[in-house]
Amino acid sequence: MKIVMLGAPGAGKGTQAKMIASKYQVPHISTGDIFRANIKNGTELGKKAKEYMDQGLLVPDELTVDLVIDRLSQDDCKKGYILDGFPRTIPQAEALDAALAKRGEKMDFAIDVDVPDENIISRMSGRRACTGCGATYHIVYNPSKKGDVCEVCGETLILRDDDKPETVQKRLAVYHDQTQPLIDYYTGQSILKTVDGTQDMNDVFAAITEILEA
Ligand code: AP5
Ligand code: MG
Ligand code: ZN
Repeated sequence: MKIVMLGAPGAGKGTQAKMIASKYQVPHISTGDIFRANIKNGTELGKKAKEYMDQGLLVPDELTVDLVIDRLSQDDCKKGYILDGFPRTIPQAEALDAALAKRGEKMDFAIDVDVPDENIISRMSGRRACTGCGATYHIVYNPSKKGDVCEVCGETLILRDDDKPETVQKRLAVYHDQTQPLIDYYTGQSILKTVDGTQDMNDVFAAITEILEA
């Protein structure tokens, strides 16, 4: 089962990808999480990525594509995976398809979690991310049972640097300009499925499992 999650920043791609990964026991591969781990560890890649991320811009394809293609060749990806936040540009999607085609493989589903821009800003300002394990919460919609520390690992929860309202506006503009064209790209491959991401997160998940098991 090979799945691409599409959707605006804050649509709930990460939330749903984690649920799918745990139900179907496939790896959840988030380029955003990989970049944030590199920033935290002070790597060269992290330093470069941070310059773009803090401005709400995309990290250049040259720094992104090979990283993901390498990750997909690891053993745990043999039975499938969920890509969250990649591809995000047409050239990334084409590079991914080319790498899959070399192995005689193809993507099975592209799931678009559809949420209008109006809902996004409030979701982002309420999001809290764990500095330890990357778990994601929302102060209203999905609070940690342990208050301001992570339920899973006990580390501190923070507001992401790029979740400030002005940066979120920029990310939304970049999404519409560079990432939304992927909806047509995957419609053209007849693998696009759209779910209403404004529903409760468990209802969104139910809609996704229905698609995957149809
Ligand atoms: P990335 O980390 O991928 O950020 P994003 O796409 O902007 O998406 P988010 O992680 O912000 O949102 P999400 O859809 O995962 O929502 P979540 O589940 O957390 O990328 C960050 C940056 O890295 C990019 O801006 C770019 O610079 C760079 N980057 C990454 N990949 C790249 C690539 N391929 N190429 C180039 N650059 C790249 O949910 C959001 C909040 O809402 C949470 O608080 C959650 O609890 C809550 N929530 C979720 N679902 C619901 C629901 N149904 N109802 C109510 N609340 C909900
Ligand atoms: Mg995410
Ligand atoms: Zn944690």
